Amino acid sequence: MSKCIGILTAGGDSPGINAAIRAVGRALERENIHLLGFRDGFEGIAFDKCDYLDHATYSGILTKGGTILGTSRNKPHKMPVGKKLIDMTDAIVDTYNRRQLQGLICIGGGGTHKSALRLREKGLNVITMPKTIDNDLAGTDTSIGYDTAIEIATNAIDSLHSTASSHKRIMIVEVMGHRAGWLTLASGIAGGADVILIPEIPYDLNKVAEAITRRSREGKRFSIVPVAEGSMSIEFAARYRELEDRKAKAGNKDEREQLKVEDEKLWQEHAGQSMRIAQSLESLTGLESRVTILGHLQRGGFPSAADRLLATRLGVVCAENIVKGNYGTMMSVQGENIIPVPIESIAGRVKYVPMDDVLVKAARDTDTCLGD
Ligand code: F6P
Repeated sequence: MSKCIGILTAGGDSPGINAAIRAVGRALERENIHLLGFRDGFEGIAFDKCDYLDHATYSGILTKGGTILGTSRNKPHKMPVGKKLIDMTDAIVDTYNRRQLQGLICIGGGGTHKSALRLREKGLNVITMPKTIDNDLAGTDTSIGYDTAIEIATNAIDSLHSTASSHKRIMIVEVMGHRAGWLTLASGIAGGADVILIPEIPYDLNKVAEAITRRSREGKRFSIVPVAEGSMSIEFAARYRELEDRKAKAGNKDEREQLKVEDEKLWQEHAGQSMRIAQSLESLTGLESRVTILGHLQRGGFPSAADRLLATRLGVVCAENIVKGNYGTMMSVQGENIIPVPIESIAGRVKYVPMDDVLVKAARDTDTCLGD
């Protein structure tokens, strides 16, 4: 009886996922091991929505964007059923056993790894590959989708230069990255931005306005300002940190629920930040400002060559570790190598941009204002 391994893709999709599915599927076929694909993330294994993948499945998907399996952000222990959230962890274990799976491959980002760890703690043989355009997954230098998103955001920033120059405008470009600013910083530098705002560096709009006004005095007709969607003013960051401190000290469920409500209210206030930044800078500098929100363009389209290569390498190393029975691991990119690391060492941890990172230095040394 040939072995069967489950596979699912969860969280925000990205180009490159299908390249990883193809690589791990083809590599396992050589070992007479077959994949059972669960649809739409963890809900697929919770409700046993699956199809066997075969050689024909992998044909033509290397360059295909998105995920052929579908995805969702639904968590095993909080699965939407009607209007309720039900703990479907045991149902997932049942499906895993009933399908006689030898293991379960999860391709995803931060949320996916927390869910994968939960299933490992229930005794499932889980093994993961890192995927997020945000590149905010701890324990790996990079993740599937990040390179393609940099390319998309950089091309968008490049395109905005000409219209900004024609109209002598400030162009605010909202880039994805709710918690960490990797994508905004990398595409901002690559796109020759004049100001880059990321969540890790709370900004002072007066300093941003000074930098833009200085450019005007030097005869520069425009300024390009990529803003990570999770960027914060100094004032907002102080309120955010105070709430995070209280969340860390919360003593009981009621307190945690109350703080969750406060957190939602705080982020509701944050919504529309890019428009407010544009209006404030227009007032402070006298220059017209406009906003472009890149949104899901950064998650769409076909994968870059680099992401295809990364996903293929991750897939074949994942297959190697499955054959060795090395479960409970994430395939971690470390320099030129891909090394399995324990999922518990990374689950729940966010990789923020360190202040001494080479990208921060590159921005500062090329006179890019980072808002501080
Ligand atoms: O996690 C990747 C990401 O693209 C974030 O950058 C963004 O904030 C979020 O997903 C958007 O989520 P959704 O696609 O569920 O709206």
